[in-house]
Amino acid sequence: MRQPLVAGNWKMNGSKADAADLVNGIKAGAAKVQKAEIAVCPPFPYLQLIEGLLAGSNIRWGSQDVSNESDGAFTGQVSARMLKDFGCTYAIIGHSERRMFNAESDALIAKKYDQALAAGLTPVLCVGESLEEREHGKTEEVVARHLDAVLEGAGAKAIGLGVIAYEPVWAIGTGVTATPEQAQEVHAFLRQRIAAKSQAEAEAVRILYGGSMKPGNAMELIGQADIDGGLIGGAALKSSDFLAICAAA
Ligand code: G3H
Repeated sequence: MRQPLVAGNWKMNGSKADAADLVNGIKAGAAKVQKAEIAVCPPFPYLQLIEGLLAGSNIRWGSQDVSNESDGAFTGQVSARMLKDFGCTYAIIGHSERRMFNAESDALIAKKYDQALAAGLTPVLCVGESLEEREHGKTEEVVARHLDAVLEGAGAKAIGLGVIAYEPVWAIGTGVTATPEQAQEVHAFLRQRIAAKSQAEAEAVRILYGGSMKPGNAMELIGQADIDGGLIGGAALKSSDFLAICAAA
């Protein structure tokens, strides 16, 4: 059985004080969460603070990105080893906002994935189609391309060591959520694609849904056979909402 994972992606929000308040709120309510593993992904500058507040707890933390290089003259980048140094378990990789605003290619994302694994981090590989792509019937083609960048290179074993997040771009921050059926269909497609390479890795890998997941829709989404949790944006910025999603998982 796959343990559900609910991860909060705080994106570029909040201050140092907000980060401490949020994580303390989550910590205070986490004991009521029975089943799900909980993780938070704050902005880079707050990782040290979060490490200090969460060390010794069951809540894990991670980054929102990682460099595709291991070290050296790469101004402004943060290596996987540095993230490991700050106790990160997870690194979000290939989020659609980075694909869009930072022109990240599948090849670059695959390198980031490798870097994360090599440093002992668990990469959370984001895949997902735009509204236009969905309307043109290209959802499977797009998510397959995103997945294959790692699956065809690093292999099924590498996919099994990570987490996948299906995040339809049209559902991110829009308040429009994929229906449980729409989400389940894509999750099942992704799992089958991995199963074609390795049944064991396909059964083991957790596939999260992300895109306007809220306390009100979390249970139905996570209740689907192939949805193993959520990658939460907006609703992860309020501890009561985030905890309600964790409890529903
Ligand atoms: O990484 C999180 C996703 O982009 C979802 O964001 O919950 O604000 O739609 P959202």
